[in-house]
Amino acid sequence: MDAQEWDERYRASETVWSIEPNQFVVEYLRDLRPGTMLDIAGGEGRNALWFARRGWAVEVVEFSAAALAKFDDRAEFDRVKDRCVSTLADVTEDYHALVAPANLAVMAYLQIPAEPLARAIAVAATKLREGGTFFGVWHARENLEHGWGGPREASVLPTMDELRGAATAAGLTVVTLEQRERVVATPDGDRVARDVVLLATR
Ligand SMILES: C[S@@+](CC[C@H](N)C(=O)[O-])C[C@H]1O[C@@H](n2cnc3c(N)ncnc32)[C@H](O)[C@@H]1O
Repeated sequence: MDAQEWDERYRASETVWSIEPNQFVVEYLRDLRPGTMLDIAGGEGRNALWFARRGWAVEVVEFSAAALAKFDDRAEFDRVKDRCVSTLADVTEDYHALVAPANLAVMAYLQIPAEPLARAIAVAATKLREGGTFFGVWHARENLEHGWGGPREASVLPTMDELRGAATAAGLTVVTLEQRERVVATPDGDRVARDVVLLATR
């Protein structure tokens, strides 16, 4: 989907994604001390806002202006606007990040083909300070056959090998790369989604 299609999707409903942070963002990153954080392809900013409410200075980089407008509104509502910046940009190309060099970069569910995804990870790595943390979570390739929801196209579901290669090429040191199950409540009962999580440091 291009930026215009994402804009249409974001304009079509009040909230496209949950307003809660992703459960793995919380699980892997809750013990970090507040600093500066980039939410790459951050959508409506649910993850960035969770950090902002915990005292972080955050920046959502996104190519959907409609998503960023919602992030701005939510930041105002949550009374954290003074700690939130939004940047309209394609994250597969270089962009100017105001909080860089950042302590943390989060990339949640950027489901794009392996080559542009590797570029996005490489650019993200350049926005981190030495010792900074990169955290990514995606619908895993295995979710296609054995999991609930997510894109139905294999090319946008990264494999662990692709993620390891992209992280290493970006100069990141992989700390954790693993598949995780996520329980999703649906009208027909609980379903299991299969995600892949990458934690790395620069
Ligand atoms: C599945 S949503 C996830 C949003 C958010 N990270 C979250 O977890 O709630 C994917 C997001 O990636 C954005 N996106 C996709 N390709 C992008 C690109 N090349 N540059 C910037 N944003 C992009 C979309 O606009 C969309 O907001």
